[in-house]
Amino acid sequence: MPRVFSGIQPTGDIHLGNLLGALRNWVSDQHEADSFYCIVDLHALTVPKEPGEVGQRTLELAQVLLAVGLDPEVCTLFVQSHVTEHSELAWLLQCVTSMGELRRMTQFKDKSEGKDFVSAGLFTYPALQAADILLYDTDRVPVGEDQIQHIELTRDVAERFNHRYGETFRLPAASVPTAGARVMDLQDPTRKMSKSSESPAGTILVTEDLGSVAKKIKRAVTDSEPEVRYDPAAKPGVSNLLSILGAVTGRDPEEVAGDYEQYGPLKSDTAEAVVELLRPIQERIAELQKDPERTAALLEVGAEKAREVASGVLERAKRNIGLLPRAHG
Ligand code: TYM
Repeated sequence: MPRVFSGIQPTGDIHLGNLLGALRNWVSDQHEADSFYCIVDLHALTVPKEPGEVGQRTLELAQVLLAVGLDPEVCTLFVQSHVTEHSELAWLLQCVTSMGELRRMTQFKDKSEGKDFVSAGLFTYPALQAADILLYDTDRVPVGEDQIQHIELTRDVAERFNHRYGETFRLPAASVPTAGARVMDLQDPTRKMSKSSESPAGTILVTEDLGSVAKKIKRAVTDSEPEVRYDPAAKPGVSNLLSILGAVTGRDPEEVAGDYEQYGPLKSDTAEAVVELLRPIQERIAELQKDPERTAALLEVGAEKAREVASGVLERAKRNIGLLPRAHG
């Protein structure tokens, strides 16, 4: 069975882009691969957080992931900081990653631009991400389009390590969905959908009131041309709606475009499809919130399963580097 690994940050704003670009593939992959899914709480610390905030968000995110359809009997769902091997391998990988490589990362450029305080962790973030992936001998990483650059860096770092210290890491490949890989902001369809704090009217949250979800989709920016056509460069707003509807209904956006002559019906159908996608997820979240200890216990089981794999791979890396082993270790 191929090995799959992916991660998501507990930022508290899980949106339609996360769901269509990544999480839906996680759910389908869990039945086809030996899948490890990680809530990357250490990555969330790269930008300032209040005490307690990340822990609370981690639990909430775990509930969302279970509600979306991850089955802890089938996949391994765990929290990054519960498996300390991640931090340790990240250090080893930082030492084979160049400043130049890190400087080229667009996520770093986007997140650091115009900020007074930029942490060193934000800069070395991709080395921790590489550690996440490489610790599980991963074949495939289901992600949205914005993460492809980080997966390519992971491959480069793994190759460099293997070249320097001998065959240690398996080289992973990104897997990106055909529709929904880049869900755009509903108000500014030239930028990707991201945290709601940056664009409340342009972002749909998985936990949002369903009336508000429908309203936002109906108010999505389109253009003044009457024709419904999938053309992301010339018609980004309409194309985004077609991609969303395509992703939710499992169809090609071009094919979806053929069903519509006007924007109004396209918007109503997209709104309805998204509302019906989110409704059962929200019902399951409400159920899970009644028993937070159960979610915490599931994460503990996940951490144990993850550590079994991660500890072996970390040991292999240390042995191949040739660090002095402990006398009784
Ligand atoms: P994060 O937490 O920002 O996003 C989680 C997943 O959602 C996808 N995504 C999108 N897909 C389509 N349209 C969008 N507008 C959109 N916004 C986000 C992301 O591509 C991602 O798949 N660095 C990662 C977390 C991470 C990770 C890993 C991922 C840490 N370690 C190891 C894979 C493997 C991140 O910040 O994702």
